[in-house]
Amino acid sequence: MTHLSILSTPTIELVTARLADTVGLETLAHVRQTAIVARELAALHGVDPERAELAALVHDVADPLSEQELMMRAERYHIPVTLTEARVPRLLHAPVGAEMLREEWGIGDEEVLNAVRYHVTGAPLMSPLVKIIFVADKIEPDRDRYYSGLDAIRVIARTNLDEAVLRLYAWRMSSLVATGQPMHQQLVSARNSLIEQTLAMQR
Ligand SMILES: [Fe+2]
Ligand SMILES: [Fe+2]
Repeated sequence: MTHLSILSTPTIELVTARLADTVGLETLAHVRQTAIVARELAALHGVDPERAELAALVHDVADPLSEQELMMRAERYHIPVTLTEARVPRLLHAPVGAEMLREEWGIGDEEVLNAVRYHVTGAPLMSPLVKIIFVADKIEPDRDRYYSGLDAIRVIARTNLDEAVLRLYAWRMSSLVATGQPMHQQLVSARNSLIEQTLAMQR
């Protein structure tokens, strides 16, 4: 362990044991699958696999909270709530989860917390770890039960993380447009940021 910030972080074993008492069986299966994918992607993209595994395991820690509880905790943690989040409080499980992990789980690694905080929308200037959790959450094998066409993104994710993130944005945004739903502002600003960065690198 070379990162001072993660010296106090609980071990994977402790986190795994506590999770089993925290989230439901379906979420437990999902985060375990996400952790396997996150570890693989981390190894491929030069990110610490342990940190990726930890972030993946805890990313849905706020999943069991009711909409009312999510709104209450957002207020307690001073998380700004957008109009879209007030209408769909479930979106708050990402930023609320990050604060719960800091306050109640003793996780102080800001990179891990950011990966949890932004796993639904992404954010401008995402680190590789944030991108890995964003992608792994959406392409883990169990997602095939709900979505089709993920295999192409799985292949891309192994070599080009940014392209995988952009494909997932395109897919998510077109389904929001097709069903007439509003788009979280952060989704738009994160995608714009990534495209600008990609274009700047090509210059
Ligand atoms: Fe989630
Ligand atoms: Fe998830």
